[in-house]
Amino acid sequence: MKFFIDTANLDQIREANDLGILDGVTTNPSLMAKEGIKGKENILNHYVDICNIVEGDVSAEVLATDFEGIVREGEALAALHSQIVVKVPMIKEGIKAIKYFSNKGIKTNCTLVFSPGQAILAAKAGATYVSPFLGRLDDISTDSLTLIHQIVNIYSIHGFETQVLAASIRHPMHIVACAEAGADVVTCPLDPILSLLKHPLTDIGLEKFLADAKKGQ
Ligand code: E4P
Repeated sequence: MKFFIDTANLDQIREANDLGILDGVTTNPSLMAKEGIKGKENILNHYVDICNIVEGDVSAEVLATDFEGIVREGEALAALHSQIVVKVPMIKEGIKAIKYFSNKGIKTNCTLVFSPGQAILAAKAGATYVSPFLGRLDDISTDSLTLIHQIVNIYSIHGFETQVLAASIRHPMHIVACAEAGADVVTCPLDPILSLLKHPLTDIGLEKFLADAKKGQ
């Protein structure tokens, strides 16, 4: 399972990358705004900065919602760097654009996916990644993990090559559950990734080992 970090914060991307377990980055317009990245030029430069830190795929989201606009923006984003994946919303015009990009060999991430039917359409259109959002489903009292299981199962039955990129991850158990469900990728903020490291028995055990080692010195 691949690990992507879901942020536009360069320090956090570097920190995750330094762990040696990072396979890519996802961003969205809200995450760019959170970092204060404004204006077309700055936004494009920021994507290149991210690509220069990590080796894997970097999702950059289009803002247009019409086919021509999505294609225009997506082609400009893809031309920025070979690691860029064009992130396209799950809407009618988005599906048409994903098919267009797929025919041209441009990688895509179909975002804002909340149902198995949407995931089938994304795969049929040839999306490289499909992004079901866990946290936002949980927020409305819907079992998000059932969705991950359904998509993984459907893609496996029909041999779809689209990778299931579990998004909107809020805590470490989301990551573990997605791994169990067979998601190809999880994308999450730095904190849930670092939380995977933690166990009180690890801390207690290490403290004792170090104390005992001191006695023998
Ligand atoms: C995924 O690509 C999205 O950027 C992200 O995971 C959304 O997460 P949120 O629901 O915490 O905003």
